[in-house]
Amino acid sequence: MIITNAKLYGKKGLWNLSLREGKIFSITPSQPLSNQVNAAILDIHGKLILPPFVEPHIHLDYVLTAGTPRWNQSGTLFEGIQCWSERKVSVKETKADIKNRALQALKMQMKHGVQHVRTHVDITDPSFLGLEAMLEIKEEIRPWMDVQIVAFPQEGIYAYPKGDELLEESLNMGADVVGAIPHYEFTREDGVLSVKKALELAYKYGKMVDIHCDEIDDEQSRFLEVVAAESYKLGMGEHVTASHTTAMGSYNNAYAYKLFKLLKQANIHFVSLPKANLHLQGRFDTFPKRRGITRVKELLDADINVCFGLDSIMDPWYPLGDGNLQRVVEVGLHACHMTGYEDITSAYDLITINGAKTLNLQQYEIKEGNKANFIVLDTDNEYDAVRCQPSVLYSVREGKIMVETKPAETQMHASIFSKQFSEN
Ligand code: FE2
Repeated sequence: MIITNAKLYGKKGLWNLSLREGKIFSITPSQPLSNQVNAAILDIHGKLILPPFVEPHIHLDYVLTAGTPRWNQSGTLFEGIQCWSERKVSVKETKADIKNRALQALKMQMKHGVQHVRTHVDITDPSFLGLEAMLEIKEEIRPWMDVQIVAFPQEGIYAYPKGDELLEESLNMGADVVGAIPHYEFTREDGVLSVKKALELAYKYGKMVDIHCDEIDDEQSRFLEVVAAESYKLGMGEHVTASHTTAMGSYNNAYAYKLFKLLKQANIHFVSLPKANLHLQGRFDTFPKRRGITRVKELLDADINVCFGLDSIMDPWYPLGDGNLQRVVEVGLHACHMTGYEDITSAYDLITINGAKTLNLQQYEIKEGNKANFIVLDTDNEYDAVRCQPSVLYSVREGKIMVETKPAETQMHASIFSKQFSEN
Protein backbone atom coordinates (compact mmCIF):
# COMPACT_ATOMS: atom_id res chain seq x y z
CA MET A 1 0.00 0.00 0.00
CA ILE A 2 1.09 3.58 -0.62
CA ILE A 3 -0.18 6.42 1.56
CA THR A 4 0.00 9.70 -0.34
CA ASN A 5 -0.09 13.34 0.78
CA ALA A 6 0.57 12.69 4.46
CA LYS A 7 1.41 15.44 6.91
CA LEU A 8 3.84 13.77 9.30
CA TYR A 9 3.63 14.84 12.95
CA GLY A 10 6.33 17.40 13.74
CA LYS A 11 7.52 17.59 10.13
CA LYS A 12 6.91 20.16 7.41
CA GLY A 13 5.63 19.35 3.90
CA LEU A 14 3.67 16.41 2.54
CA TRP A 15 5.00 12.87 2.20
CA ASN A 16 4.30 9.54 0.58
CA LEU A 17 4.72 6.39 2.64
CA SER A 18 5.23 3.11 0.87
CA LEU A 19 4.40 0.04 2.96
CA ARG A 20 5.66 -3.48 2.26
CA GLU A 21 5.34 -6.68 4.25
CA GLY A 22 4.02 -4.84 7.31
CA LYS A 23 6.89 -2.35 7.37
CA ILE A 24 7.54 1.18 6.20
CA PHE A 25 9.61 0.68 3.07
CA SER A 26 10.12 4.32 2.14
CA ILE A 27 9.14 7.86 3.11
CA THR A 28 9.56 10.34 0.26
CA PRO A 29 8.40 13.88 -0.48
CA SER A 30 4.91 13.79 -1.90
CA GLN A 31 4.73 13.70 -5.69
CA PRO A 32 2.21 12.37 -8.24
CA LEU A 33 2.52 8.61 -8.67
CA SER A 34 3.06 7.12 -12.10
CA ASN A 35 0.24 5.04 -13.59
CA GLN A 36 2.41 1.94 -13.37
CA VAL A 37 2.27 1.76 -9.57
CA ASN A 38 1.18 -1.73 -8.68
CA ALA A 39 -0.11 -1.15 -5.15
CA ALA A 40 -3.23 0.04 -3.35
CA ILE A 41 -3.14 3.81 -2.96
CA LEU A 42 -4.67 5.72 -0.07
CA ASP A 43 -4.64 9.48 -0.62
CA ILE A 44 -5.16 11.13 2.76
CA HIS A 45 -5.18 14.68 1.36
CA GLY A 46 -2.78 16.32 3.82
CA LYS A 47 -4.18 14.75 6.98
CA LEU A 48 -1.95 14.33 10.02
CA ILE A 49 -0.14 11.03 10.59
CA LEU A 50 1.30 10.11 13.97
CA PRO A 51 2.71 6.97 15.52
CA PRO A 52 -0.08 5.17 17.45
CA PHE A 53 -1.15 6.62 20.77
CA VAL A 54 0.37 4.99 23.85
CA GLU A 55 -1.71 4.40 26.99
CA PRO A 56 0.98 4.15 29.67
CA HIS A 57 -1.25 3.66 32.68
CA ILE A 58 -4.67 2.09 32.96
CA HIS A 59 -6.28 -0.48 35.26
CA LEU A 60 -8.02 -2.90 32.91
CA ASP A 61 -9.12 -5.19 35.76
CA TYR A 62 -11.08 -2.28 37.29
CA VAL A 63 -12.74 -0.80 34.20
CA LEU A 64 -16.53 -0.50 34.03
CA THR A 65 -17.05 -1.42 37.69
CA ALA A 66 -18.11 1.98 39.05
CA GLY A 67 -21.11 1.66 41.35
CA THR A 68 -20.62 -2.01 42.24
CA PRO A 69 -21.05 -2.75 45.07
CA ARG A 70 -21.40 0.98 45.79
CA TRP A 71 -20.34 4.40 44.46
CA ASN A 72 -17.32 6.25 45.82
CA GLN A 73 -19.18 9.16 47.42
CA SER A 74 -16.22 11.18 48.70
CA GLY A 75 -14.25 10.91 45.45
CA THR A 76 -11.05 10.18 47.40
CA LEU A 77 -8.41 7.65 46.45
CA PHE A 78 -8.85 5.99 49.82
CA GLU A 79 -12.59 5.45 49.49
CA GLY A 80 -11.86 4.09 46.01
CA ILE A 81 -9.50 1.50 47.49
CA GLN A 82 -12.15 0.67 50.13
CA CYS A 83 -14.87 0.23 47.46
CA TRP A 84 -12.57 -2.06 45.46
CA SER A 85 -11.67 -4.07 48.54
CA GLU A 86 -15.39 -4.58 49.29
CA ARG A 87 -16.04 -5.52 45.68
CA LYS A 88 -13.40 -8.24 45.77
CA VAL A 89 -15.36 -9.90 48.58
CA SER A 90 -18.96 -9.23 47.50
CA VAL A 91 -18.94 -9.45 43.68
CA LYS A 92 -17.86 -12.83 42.41
CA GLU A 93 -16.69 -12.50 38.83
CA THR A 94 -15.39 -15.23 36.58
CA LYS A 95 -12.24 -14.85 34.56
CA ALA A 96 -14.46 -14.48 31.48
CA ASP A 97 -16.31 -11.55 33.12
CA ILE A 98 -13.04 -9.73 33.81
CA LYS A 99 -11.78 -10.38 30.29
CA ASN A 100 -15.04 -9.12 28.84
CA ARG A 101 -14.77 -5.79 30.68
CA ALA A 102 -11.10 -5.39 29.78
CA LEU A 103 -11.80 -6.14 26.14
CA GLN A 104 -14.56 -3.52 26.01
CA ALA A 105 -12.09 -0.93 27.33
CA LEU A 106 -9.35 -2.00 24.91
CA LYS A 107 -11.79 -1.65 22.01
CA MET A 108 -12.64 1.88 23.20
CA GLN A 109 -8.94 2.72 23.22
CA MET A 110 -8.36 1.04 19.86
CA LYS A 111 -11.11 3.17 18.35
CA HIS A 112 -9.28 6.23 19.67
CA GLY A 113 -5.97 5.29 18.05
CA VAL A 114 -4.21 3.46 20.87
CA GLN A 115 -2.03 0.47 19.94
CA HIS A 116 0.17 0.18 23.05
CA VAL A 117 -1.18 -0.22 26.58
CA ARG A 118 0.43 -0.67 29.97
CA THR A 119 -2.15 -1.99 32.43
CA HIS A 120 -1.79 -2.36 36.17
CA VAL A 121 -3.45 -5.46 37.63
CA ASP A 122 -4.25 -5.89 41.32
CA ILE A 123 -2.28 -8.87 42.62
CA THR A 124 -3.30 -8.47 46.27
CA ASP A 125 -5.73 -11.28 45.54
CA PRO A 126 -4.49 -14.80 46.24
CA SER A 127 -6.74 -16.21 43.47
CA PHE A 128 -4.78 -14.19 40.83
CA LEU A 129 -7.97 -14.15 38.73
CA GLY A 130 -7.35 -10.64 37.39
CA LEU A 131 -3.75 -11.41 36.50
CA GLU A 132 -4.70 -14.65 34.75
CA ALA A 133 -7.38 -12.79 32.78
CA MET A 134 -4.90 -10.10 31.67
CA LEU A 135 -2.23 -12.63 30.70
CA GLU A 136 -4.77 -14.33 28.43
CA ILE A 137 -6.02 -11.03 26.96
CA LYS A 138 -2.44 -9.95 26.28
CA GLU A 139 -1.89 -12.98 24.04
CA GLU A 140 -5.31 -12.89 22.39
CA ILE A 141 -5.13 -9.21 21.47
CA ARG A 142 -1.49 -9.18 20.33
CA PRO A 143 -2.34 -8.84 16.59
CA TRP A 144 -4.11 -5.55 17.35
CA MET A 145 -2.43 -4.20 20.45
CA ASP A 146 0.67 -4.57 22.58
CA VAL A 147 -0.13 -4.92 26.26
CA GLN A 148 2.31 -4.72 29.18
CA ILE A 149 1.15 -5.98 32.56
CA VAL A 150 2.20 -4.40 35.85
CA ALA A 151 1.88 -6.60 38.93
CA PHE A 152 0.26 -3.98 41.13
CA PRO A 153 -0.13 -4.60 44.87
CA GLN A 154 -3.17 -2.33 45.27
CA GLU A 155 -3.50 -2.98 49.02
CA GLY A 156 0.23 -2.80 49.72
CA ILE A 157 3.26 -5.06 49.64
CA TYR A 158 3.46 -5.05 53.44
CA ALA A 159 0.01 -3.70 54.41
CA TYR A 160 -1.61 -6.74 52.72
CA PRO A 161 -0.90 -10.21 54.14
CA LYS A 162 1.95 -11.83 52.17
CA GLY A 163 1.83 -9.03 49.58
CA ASP A 164 5.55 -9.49 48.89
CA GLU A 165 5.08 -13.19 48.09
CA LEU A 166 2.07 -12.47 45.85
CA LEU A 167 4.13 -9.88 43.99
CA GLU A 168 6.98 -12.30 43.33
CA GLU A 169 4.56 -15.05 42.28
CA SER A 170 2.97 -12.63 39.76
CA LEU A 171 6.34 -12.10 38.13
CA ASN A 172 6.82 -15.84 37.87
CA MET A 173 3.38 -16.08 36.24
CA GLY A 174 4.42 -13.62 33.51
CA ALA A 175 3.81 -10.03 34.61
CA ASP A 176 6.14 -7.66 32.74
CA VAL A 177 6.52 -4.85 35.26
CA VAL A 178 6.82 -4.64 39.06
CA GLY A 179 4.46 -2.27 40.90
CA ALA A 180 4.26 -0.77 44.37
CA ILE A 181 2.18 1.76 46.29
CA PRO A 182 4.44 3.14 49.05
CA HIS A 183 2.12 5.95 50.21
CA TYR A 184 -0.52 3.32 51.06
CA GLU A 185 1.76 1.23 53.30
CA PHE A 186 1.20 1.58 57.08
CA THR A 187 4.34 3.61 57.79
CA ARG A 188 6.98 5.66 56.02
CA GLU A 189 9.44 2.86 56.81
CA ASP A 190 7.23 0.20 55.20
CA GLY A 191 6.81 2.48 52.18
CA VAL A 192 10.58 2.77 51.76
CA LEU A 193 10.93 -1.00 52.14
CA SER A 194 8.22 -1.56 49.52
CA VAL A 195 10.09 0.58 46.97
CA LYS A 196 13.31 -1.30 47.68
CA LYS A 197 11.48 -4.62 47.38
CA ALA A 198 10.00 -3.69 43.99
CA LEU A 199 13.38 -2.64 42.64
CA GLU A 200 15.07 -5.74 44.07
CA LEU A 201 12.52 -8.02 42.37
CA ALA A 202 12.82 -6.13 39.08
CA TYR A 203 16.58 -6.48 39.21
CA LYS A 204 16.34 -10.18 40.03
CA TYR A 205 13.84 -11.00 37.26
CA GLY A 206 14.98 -8.45 34.63
CA LYS A 207 11.65 -6.56 34.68
CA MET A 208 10.66 -2.92 34.48
CA VAL A 209 9.23 -1.01 37.45
CA ASP A 210 6.17 1.27 37.63
CA ILE A 211 5.31 2.65 41.04
CA HIS A 212 2.12 4.40 42.13
CA CYS A 213 4.14 7.07 43.88
CA ASP A 214 2.95 9.78 46.26
CA GLU A 215 -0.62 9.86 44.93
CA ILE A 216 -1.72 12.07 47.79
CA ASP A 217 -1.83 15.79 48.59
CA ASP A 218 0.50 15.29 51.57
CA GLU A 219 3.54 17.50 51.00
CA GLN A 220 5.43 15.15 53.33
CA SER A 221 4.90 12.16 51.02
CA ARG A 222 8.41 11.85 49.60
CA PHE A 223 8.75 8.34 48.22
CA LEU A 224 9.74 9.78 44.84
CA GLU A 225 13.18 10.64 46.21
CA VAL A 226 13.53 7.00 47.33
CA VAL A 227 12.45 5.67 43.92
CA ALA A 228 14.89 8.00 42.16
CA ALA A 229 17.83 7.45 44.52
CA GLU A 230 17.52 3.66 44.56
CA SER A 231 17.03 3.49 40.76
CA TYR A 232 20.10 5.66 40.31
CA LYS A 233 22.23 3.49 42.60
CA LEU A 234 21.15 0.36 40.71
CA GLY A 235 21.57 2.04 37.29
CA MET A 236 17.98 1.10 36.43
CA GLY A 237 16.49 4.56 35.79
CA GLU A 238 15.42 4.09 32.19
CA HIS A 239 13.42 1.00 33.24
CA VAL A 240 11.69 2.77 36.13
CA THR A 241 8.52 4.87 36.09
CA ALA A 242 6.98 7.00 38.81
CA SER A 243 3.23 7.28 38.22
CA HIS A 244 0.99 10.03 39.61
CA THR A 245 3.55 11.81 41.93
CA THR A 246 0.78 14.27 42.76
CA ALA A 247 2.37 15.26 46.10
CA MET A 248 4.98 17.05 43.97
CA GLY A 249 2.27 19.62 43.28
CA SER A 250 2.36 20.43 47.00
CA TYR A 251 6.13 20.33 47.64
CA ASN A 252 7.81 23.60 48.58
CA ASN A 253 9.99 25.02 45.83
CA ALA A 254 13.26 24.73 47.76
CA TYR A 255 12.74 20.97 48.20
CA ALA A 256 11.54 20.57 44.59
CA TYR A 257 14.67 22.34 43.36
CA LYS A 258 16.90 19.88 45.21
CA LEU A 259 14.74 16.92 44.12
CA PHE A 260 14.92 17.81 40.41
CA LYS A 261 18.70 17.38 40.39
CA LEU A 262 18.27 13.80 41.60
CA LEU A 263 15.40 13.11 39.16
CA LYS A 264 17.56 14.22 36.24
CA GLN A 265 20.46 12.07 37.44
CA ALA A 266 18.21 9.06 37.98
CA ASN A 267 16.78 9.27 34.42
CA ILE A 268 13.41 7.79 35.43
CA HIS A 269 10.11 8.31 33.58
CA PHE A 270 6.95 10.02 34.80
CA VAL A 271 3.31 9.25 34.06
CA SER A 272 0.83 11.97 34.85
CA LEU A 273 -2.90 11.17 34.91
CA PRO A 274 -4.49 14.63 34.75
CA LYS A 275 -8.18 13.72 34.52
CA ALA A 276 -8.07 11.10 37.25
CA ASN A 277 -6.01 13.23 39.62
CA LEU A 278 -7.97 16.45 39.10
CA HIS A 279 -10.91 14.33 40.20
CA LEU A 280 -9.24 12.55 43.14
CA GLN A 281 -6.95 15.18 44.62
CA GLY A 282 -7.79 18.31 46.55
CA ARG A 283 -10.62 16.42 48.25
CA PHE A 284 -9.41 17.37 51.72
CA ASP A 285 -8.94 21.03 50.78
CA THR A 286 -11.50 23.75 51.27
CA PHE A 287 -10.23 26.87 49.49
CA PRO A 288 -7.82 27.45 47.91
CA LYS A 289 -8.13 23.98 46.37
CA ARG A 290 -5.00 22.37 44.95
CA ARG A 291 -4.97 20.91 41.44
CA GLY A 292 -3.18 17.78 42.63
CA ILE A 293 -1.12 17.32 39.48
CA THR A 294 2.60 16.67 39.28
CA ARG A 295 4.92 19.35 37.87
CA VAL A 296 4.58 18.32 34.22
CA LYS A 297 5.84 21.49 32.56
CA GLU A 298 8.77 21.83 34.96
CA LEU A 299 9.81 18.20 34.46
CA LEU A 300 9.67 18.58 30.68
CA ASP A 301 11.65 21.83 30.88
CA ALA A 302 14.29 19.90 32.87
CA ASP A 303 14.44 17.36 30.01
CA ILE A 304 12.85 14.62 32.10
CA ASN A 305 10.47 12.27 30.29
CA VAL A 306 6.75 12.69 31.10
CA CYS A 307 3.74 11.12 29.42
CA PHE A 308 -0.01 11.32 29.98
CA GLY A 309 -2.39 8.44 30.67
CA LEU A 310 -5.99 7.79 31.52
CA ASP A 311 -5.77 5.63 34.69
CA SER A 312 -9.45 4.70 34.73
CA ILE A 313 -12.60 4.12 32.77
CA MET A 314 -15.61 4.06 35.09
CA ASP A 315 -14.13 2.46 38.18
CA PRO A 316 -14.22 3.15 41.94
CA TRP A 317 -11.57 5.86 41.50
CA TYR A 318 -13.01 7.73 38.52
CA PRO A 319 -16.62 7.56 37.32
CA LEU A 320 -16.22 8.78 33.72
CA GLY A 321 -13.89 8.13 30.75
CA ASP A 322 -14.20 6.61 27.30
CA GLY A 323 -10.61 5.66 26.50
CA ASN A 324 -9.80 8.82 24.54
CA LEU A 325 -6.28 10.10 25.26
CA GLN A 326 -6.78 13.23 23.17
CA ARG A 327 -9.15 14.50 25.84
CA VAL A 328 -6.54 13.80 28.50
CA VAL A 329 -4.13 16.04 26.59
CA GLU A 330 -6.66 18.86 26.45
CA VAL A 331 -7.42 18.66 30.18
CA GLY A 332 -3.75 18.18 31.09
CA LEU A 333 -2.59 21.24 29.18
CA HIS A 334 -5.12 23.37 31.04
CA ALA A 335 -4.32 21.88 34.45
CA CYS A 336 -0.56 22.26 33.97
CA HIS A 337 -0.62 25.78 32.48
CA MET A 338 0.82 24.43 29.23
CA THR A 339 -0.99 26.59 26.72
CA GLY A 340 1.95 28.35 25.08
CA TYR A 341 2.20 27.82 21.31
CA GLU A 342 5.06 25.29 21.53
CA ASP A 343 3.35 23.50 24.43
CA ILE A 344 0.30 23.01 22.20
CA THR A 345 2.05 22.02 18.98
CA SER A 346 4.23 19.44 20.74
CA ALA A 347 1.52 18.25 23.14
CA TYR A 348 0.90 14.94 21.37
CA ASP A 349 4.45 13.91 22.35
CA LEU A 350 2.78 13.25 25.73
CA ILE A 351 0.63 10.46 24.30
CA THR A 352 3.05 9.19 21.64
CA ILE A 353 6.87 9.26 21.82
CA ASN A 354 7.09 10.07 25.53
CA GLY A 355 4.80 7.15 26.33
CA ALA A 356 6.85 4.91 24.04
CA LYS A 357 10.02 5.85 25.96
CA THR A 358 8.31 5.06 29.25
CA LEU A 359 7.24 1.62 28.02
CA ASN A 360 10.67 1.02 26.43
CA LEU A 361 8.96 0.31 23.08
CA GLN A 362 11.12 -0.66 20.11
CA GLN A 363 10.48 0.21 16.43
CA TYR A 364 7.90 2.76 17.50
CA GLU A 365 8.51 5.85 15.40
CA ILE A 366 7.38 6.36 11.81
CA LYS A 367 10.67 5.55 10.15
CA GLU A 368 11.86 3.53 7.17
CA GLY A 369 12.39 -0.09 8.23
CA ASN A 370 10.09 0.17 11.27
CA LYS A 371 6.74 -1.57 11.55
CA ALA A 372 3.99 0.19 9.58
CA ASN A 373 2.04 1.17 12.71
CA PHE A 374 0.45 4.64 12.68
CA ILE A 375 -2.75 6.61 12.91
CA VAL A 376 -4.33 9.28 10.70
CA LEU A 377 -6.23 12.13 12.36
CA ASP A 378 -8.93 14.20 10.70
CA THR A 379 -6.90 17.42 10.76
CA ASP A 380 -3.98 18.86 8.82
CA ASN A 381 -1.94 20.31 11.69
CA GLU A 382 -0.79 19.70 15.26
CA TYR A 383 -2.40 22.83 16.71
CA ASP A 384 -5.91 21.98 15.52
CA ALA A 385 -5.47 18.40 16.69
CA VAL A 386 -5.19 19.65 20.27
CA ARG A 387 -7.93 22.23 19.79
CA CYS A 388 -10.49 19.98 18.12
CA GLN A 389 -9.54 16.40 19.14
CA PRO A 390 -10.34 15.03 15.67
CA SER A 391 -11.53 11.55 14.80
CA VAL A 392 -8.99 8.81 14.17
CA LEU A 393 -9.69 8.26 10.46
CA TYR A 394 -7.41 5.23 10.28
CA SER A 395 -5.39 3.14 12.68
CA VAL A 396 -2.91 1.08 10.68
CA ARG A 397 -1.14 -1.90 12.20
CA GLU A 398 1.66 -3.67 10.36
CA GLY A 399 0.46 -2.16 7.11
CA LYS A 400 -3.20 -3.15 7.51
CA ILE A 401 -6.08 -0.79 8.27
CA MET A 402 -7.34 -1.94 11.65
CA VAL A 403 -9.77 0.91 12.44
CA GLU A 404 -11.54 3.25 10.06
CA THR A 405 -13.84 6.10 11.10
CA LYS A 406 -16.18 8.12 8.96
CA PRO A 407 -16.32 11.58 10.57
CA ALA A 408 -19.70 12.99 11.46
CA GLU A 409 -21.08 15.47 8.94
CA THR A 410 -23.03 18.53 10.01
CA GLN A 411 -25.33 20.43 7.64
CA MET A 412 -26.25 24.06 8.30
CA HIS A 413 -29.77 24.69 6.97
CA ALA A 414 -29.36 28.27 5.85
CA SER A 415 -33.03 28.88 5.19
CA ILE A 416 -33.80 29.17 8.89
CA PHE A 417 -31.19 31.92 9.37
CA SER A 418 -31.30 35.52 8.25
CA LYS A 419 -29.84 36.27 4.79
CA GLN A 420 -26.89 38.14 6.30
CA PHE A 421 -26.02 35.26 8.65
CA SER A 422 -26.19 32.62 5.96
CA GLU A 423 -23.94 34.69 3.67
CA ASN A 424 -21.27 34.84 6.36
FE1 FE2 B 1 -3.25 4.07 38.77
